[in-house]
Amino acid sequence: MEAFTPAPERPVVVSGAEREARALSDEHFREAALLLHTRGWVVLRDAIPAGVAAAAEAAFDRIRRDCFASKEGDGWYQVARETQAVFWERNRRWRIFPKLRPPLSDPWIVANPFALALLRFSLGEDLYCKFVSSDTCLRGAEIQAPHRELGAGEQWETRALVVNVPMGPCGLDNGPLEVWYSGGHLWRNAALAAVGYGDDVQDGGNADAEALAAALPSRRITLDPGDVLVRDPGLLHRGTVNRTGAPRTMLTMAFFRAGEDHSYGDVRFSLDEPLFAALEPEVQALFAHAFAPSVHASADEQGAGAGDAPEGPGEPDQPRRPLVVEAHEARPEPPQDRR
Ligand SMILES: [Fe+2]
Repeated sequence: MEAFTPAPERPVVVSGAEREARALSDEHFREAALLLHTRGWVVLRDAIPAGVAAAAEAAFDRIRRDCFASKEGDGWYQVARETQAVFWERNRRWRIFPKLRPPLSDPWIVANPFALALLRFSLGEDLYCKFVSSDTCLRGAEIQAPHRELGAGEQWETRALVVNVPMGPCGLDNGPLEVWYSGGHLWRNAALAAVGYGDDVQDGGNADAEALAAALPSRRITLDPGDVLVRDPGLLHRGTVNRTGAPRTMLTMAFFRAGEDHSYGDVRFSLDEPLFAALEPEVQALFAHAFAPSVHASADEQGAGAGDAPEGPGEPDQPRRPLVVEAHEARPEPPQDRR
């Protein structure tokens, strides 16, 4: 008899009828909400129609190639020549904030109805999208330290959730996200600090976090185009290594409860007034805090209204780093360091 019981992945497989209705069944919603709240993550398989996922993947491939071709030096906040995506690269990991135009701005991608239902359940009806970024892992990227991010652990109530949408297959061989079955999103920072434990380090070594993580079971999450991952940023996790010659990309969208905020990322990397005006209504609602604050009652509380300067680079929940801008155009304002 084995002492250890491995946990199945338990993805929620969205049916054709649910896609048609743009709503999960009561049973599927309960399953997804329970897993997200207790385990800190849930995979929604086939949550995006195949044609929409394929169009988004092709569009992102063009953006990624544009960023690769446009890169000059190691500056933060570079801007791709053709697609105007804001990007930077460190340690073979690219952060690309794509401009939200069709097909990437499709509601199935940015305002996925199944993910949004879970977000509203956890964050309230007035949630907002803080940024639309992406993570691209190339061969040569080092494994990250186990970490939590976006200010996790300061309160019991869920303050933010991350939605990952793969822009191509994310398999075991090309840098899948590793998560720990640890309830890390429920860990309280006051208790961790009292025993001298910290897991802010992402791109670097953290022997303390590695040692603790080694005592906890983990899973590498594989995603195919059409799948959606919803996770708490406080979940203990890390990016792993890409053993293939092809880049692996996931969109990373951060959603916050009204009144909550974090210094990482800015929606203005992905939108301007004309692009915002062209969005579908359900997508617009997620970004109204920045572009139509008069119709978003809590925009002032969020401190994310129009005119705010984009924030500085660096990994979520890490100290700001010196800013060197080598943008080709549309140069963003210097960051406002809140620390
Ligand atoms: Fe992370």
